[in-house]
Amino acid sequence: MDKLVIEGGKPLSGTIVIQGAKNAALPILAASLLAEGTITIDSVPHLLDIDVMLNILRELGCRAEHTGDTVVLDTTSAHTSHVPETLMKQMRSSIFLMGPLLSRFGEAEVYLPGGCAIGERKIDLHLQGLQALGAEIEEIGNRIICRAEKLQGADIHLTFPSVGATENIMMAAVLAEGRTTLSNAAREPEIQDLQRFLNAMGAKIMGAGTDTITIEGVKQLTPCRYKVIPDRIVAGTIMVAAAATRGGVTLQQTHPAHLSSLIHVLRRAGVQIVVDGDIIKVGSVARPKAVERIVTSPYPAFPTDLQSQVMVLLTLADGVSIMKETIFEGRLKHVDELSRMGADIRVDLNAAFIKGVPRLYGATVEATDLRAGAALVIAGLAAQGRTVVEQVHHIDRGYDKIESMLSRLGANISRYSPVPNN
Ligand code: UD1
Repeated sequence: MDKLVIEGGKPLSGTIVIQGAKNAALPILAASLLAEGTITIDSVPHLLDIDVMLNILRELGCRAEHTGDTVVLDTTSAHTSHVPETLMKQMRSSIFLMGPLLSRFGEAEVYLPGGCAIGERKIDLHLQGLQALGAEIEEIGNRIICRAEKLQGADIHLTFPSVGATENIMMAAVLAEGRTTLSNAAREPEIQDLQRFLNAMGAKIMGAGTDTITIEGVKQLTPCRYKVIPDRIVAGTIMVAAAATRGGVTLQQTHPAHLSSLIHVLRRAGVQIVVDGDIIKVGSVARPKAVERIVTSPYPAFPTDLQSQVMVLLTLADGVSIMKETIFEGRLKHVDELSRMGADIRVDLNAAFIKGVPRLYGATVEATDLRAGAALVIAGLAAQGRTVVEQVHHIDRGYDKIESMLSRLGANISRYSPVPNN
């Protein structure tokens, strides 16, 4: 397994363009199955999760090439609705394939997905939505078989605004007969991106970005070329890293509106943020201030995917901050690792009480999931001395060569891969 070795204490500085959004690209790739022909998707980052999705699409019979940041996907010869268990287990987002497969083949056979170990991640809302559209669902052990001779539009209310369930239902409803109204839908920017992509292929979807999405079923979709939005979580990670190292970074071609909750939190922590069109400048010279209380919640509130990174900044703040995680129950595992670097954090149920310390110290730590791994990298950049982050494959699921990105901003960070045994 690869390791990252970081010599901490160097302020990040420079200018960066952020990669395309993983969480937008994944459903868009899955949704491509809804049209027959060649679809071109630009700004697709090179990530383990994207590789898994492309491998699944190849396994289903598609041709897929990822050259530079562009994926060219020919879906014409997709011929099976069965997603192999080994691939399905590598990534939770493979669950997105249920909607498109059901729509294209009248059947989807998948397995309970894998993904980050951040608590129980249920799929009941996905299944209820597909059932409401007319699917019959059979669960045999960890195998799930959905069948529908015909999908019929329906009024669906989500009891929680799940991102994945919203996307799965949108994809299944797009070619259904009649109108689907999805209420209490998730409002994340990635859902708006999926709407724009599907509409570019001829779908009739309105309302993404609000809590009610209306989908008028159409007869067929036609291939298109589409560019994925920038990754707000990667942008946020860099912004926090700049602040934690007391550096100055300019992010170009961003969508600042997607980051407003983070910008608000960082400003409360005393970090200087200037937004000018699609440019965000982050600067910090002073010790951050504690932020009394941050609660993760669905968009547009503070995202769970930036909780661990911001926690690192707060470990260095002047005073006590509270971070409450409400989306995933298992998402405070980085606390133990940060404590090994000198952080003073007490966890009570799903809340972390973070008493700021003047500095963190380098240590050998383990990435337990994708965002926790990113947080440990930030901690290593800010810490005094050398930090070794193990289990880097978690980070590779969501950050396109994180060490290159950070080196370009002046960080002293290198990757070490084990020498293969002959
Ligand atoms: C997506 C993101 C992930 C992010 C999360 C929350 C992608 C590929 N991943 O994940 O990075 O952390 O949104 O912003 O876009 N739930 C149920 N039943 C369901 C589905 C979800 O109870 O059928 C619960 C989950 O257990 C969790 C909460 O809803 O507690 C949020 O999950 P959801 O919004 O579905 O997240 P994902 O789509 O898995």
